[in-house]
Amino acid sequence: MTDRFNRRTVLKAAGAAGLLLATNAIGANARKRYAVVGVGSRARLFTGAITGRYRDGNEIVAVCDSNAGRRALAARRIAATGAGTPVAYAPADFQRMIKETRPQYIIVTTVDATHDDYIVRALEAGCDVITEKPMTTTAAKAQRILDAVKRTGRHVRVTFNYRYSPPRTQVKQLLMSGEIGDVLSVDFTWLLNTVHGADYFRRWHGKKANSGGLMVHKSTHHFDLVNWWLGAQPELVHAFGSRQFYTPATARRMGLQGPHERCLTCPEKARCSFYFDLASDPGLKALYLDNEQHDGYFRDQCVWRPEIDIEDTMNVMVRYDNGTQLNYALSAYDAWEGYHIAFNGTKGRIEHRIVESAGAAGAGEVQSKSTGVTTRVIPLRGRAARDRALDRYGRPWRR
Ligand SMILES: NC(=O)c1ccc[n+]([C@@H]2O[C@H](COP(=O)([O-])OP(=O)(O)OC[C@H]3O[C@@H](n4cnc5c(N)ncnc54)[C@H](O)[C@@H]3O)[C@@H](O)[C@H]2O)c1
Repeated sequence: MTDRFNRRTVLKAAGAAGLLLATNAIGANARKRYAVVGVGSRARLFTGAITGRYRDGNEIVAVCDSNAGRRALAARRIAATGAGTPVAYAPADFQRMIKETRPQYIIVTTVDATHDDYIVRALEAGCDVITEKPMTTTAAKAQRILDAVKRTGRHVRVTFNYRYSPPRTQVKQLLMSGEIGDVLSVDFTWLLNTVHGADYFRRWHGKKANSGGLMVHKSTHHFDLVNWWLGAQPELVHAFGSRQFYTPATARRMGLQGPHERCLTCPEKARCSFYFDLASDPGLKALYLDNEQHDGYFRDQCVWRPEIDIEDTMNVMVRYDNGTQLNYALSAYDAWEGYHIAFNGTKGRIEHRIVESAGAAGAGEVQSKSTGVTTRVIPLRGRAARDRALDRYGRPWRR
């Protein structure tokens, strides 16, 4: 094992993030108090865990959202679990919320560009923070958060959940075992299909002012994985990107007259293969369609509209502080969804691939199922070892 892959550091990082809720659950009398700001789709993962599996040691005391309908819905849903009765607050009352409901932790699941504001205000009010990725969208905002952590001595945790899955942890273990020696170069391609990938262009993510673009919003997971896998930090980065597919020109190539404003009222819904039926999914309808009157936000905006300003085609070259070079590519209009990565080491190569979903199964489908994992170790000289992949539950993967 080289000192690049220090086992203790890895276990510390994994344990800290993965076991937070579990350790907090110890002792029914010491309930941890949480407030959740931004109660859209992602927040339900956190509220579900706290009101479900971890309800004995944890409780949600408040929710906050700029959309009055969604914050009321979230409070009702949490109360219906019988695991607490959170109070719903508007953003203008964030400070008052902390004073009145005394949460120890603020969970930040708002639109990316707004994270910094809530993180800093929560730290200054004496709370610790659990924030969704990306922690924030600009270097200046990141610095603001780091300064606030230093000033207050409080803690911010970014939920990089991709690390904590058996196949990705297995890759880390293989690298740490030294089986392929020191890693000299990495080739990493992430593909988003036209179901999940297209969804970024329908929602608030389509504007850089909200999401920072997919290089921030999405690739933050991927850069976190490589930094962790390598145990190294980037020191030189070159990157470029463009929007080539989700454009008015593609709509015209498909024979459409659009772009139009949104799918719900689109005059070409019968002809557009990217039509997204928000009304047909009860979950999405309750969360977004039924609450449009409060803020005018459409969850089904046209993916061809010209005002989108994020890229769909991105390439990055990185030199790490240990000399490793990375080639990275992300595109958002691919025929299947998943990734492949290859690590070239002084003693061999690891090839790792996950197929999340094989293409667009049907308009409106946003969930994908893992359909294949491959992890192969190929020595520089000698025969490739058998595939050693674990599936998402940590069982040996069988095709
Ligand atoms: N780790 C992951 O794999 C993963 C997956 C999905 C989303 N996320 C992250 O979760 C966060 C939320 O994403 P989502 O998919 O739930 O989006 P969403 O649109 O469903 O929810 C965002 C919520 O924030 C509210 N909001 C917007 N601006 C606000 C403000 N200034 N103050 C208070 N509330 C505000 C909206 O009304 C909405 O209810 C994002 O940061 C996203 O990057 C992470």
